[in-house]
Amino acid sequence: MDAIQAIMTRKVQRAFSNRAVDDGQLSTIVDAGRHAMSARNLQPWRFIVIRERARLKEIGELCSTGKFVAEAPSAVAVLKDLGNTRWADVDCAQAVQNMADAAWALGLGTCWVGNFDAQKISAILGVPDGWSIFTILPFGYADSKKPPEARPLKARGEVVFQERFGQ
Ligand SMILES: Cc1cc2nc3c(=O)[nH]c(=O)nc-3n(C[C@H](O)[C@H](O)[C@H](O)COP(=O)(O)O)c2cc1C
Repeated sequence: MDAIQAIMTRKVQRAFSNRAVDDGQLSTIVDAGRHAMSARNLQPWRFIVIRERARLKEIGELCSTGKFVAEAPSAVAVLKDLGNTRWADVDCAQAVQNMADAAWALGLGTCWVGNFDAQKISAILGVPDGWSIFTILPFGYADSKKPPEARPLKARGEVVFQERFGQ
């Protein structure tokens, strides 16, 4: 799948089959994150690849809006450099989008998890001082019984203008 097709068709995926994701795919996904733009090229991120079933389950239980992490065959924790307060959130978000698009191009899905017990998950992952958990991204193949659903997009005319606002 080419980049445009991946970007235009990607959907969040919250249900996963138990089919394994191989190391090469995860490494490509993380590399897509590493290649995101970042302000002043500071790359204020770290990525922890998680594959151990018990650890995924434990972390999933600590994600109040991402319990599905517990059922995914893999996940990547995206960590943010707390010393970089100006743009780190934006930079990390771009890494997340790259990873989601790359995963989709490889036939895999993910979903951003926005709410979780950062303190407990940091302890599980051994996150050192100076870093915080930005998000947890589960990665896996879709569960054929619960495939990702297309979301309603705002109409083009509502969000895209030519030359001046509203035009
Ligand atoms: C910053 C952010 C936080 C999100 N947090 C959650 C979340 O905690 N749980 C969840 O199920 N989906 C979460 N999502 C996924 C959105 O609900 C989803 O991207 C949106 O409905 C559009 O669907 P699409 O990505 O398939 O286009 C989050 C997305 C973003 C960008």
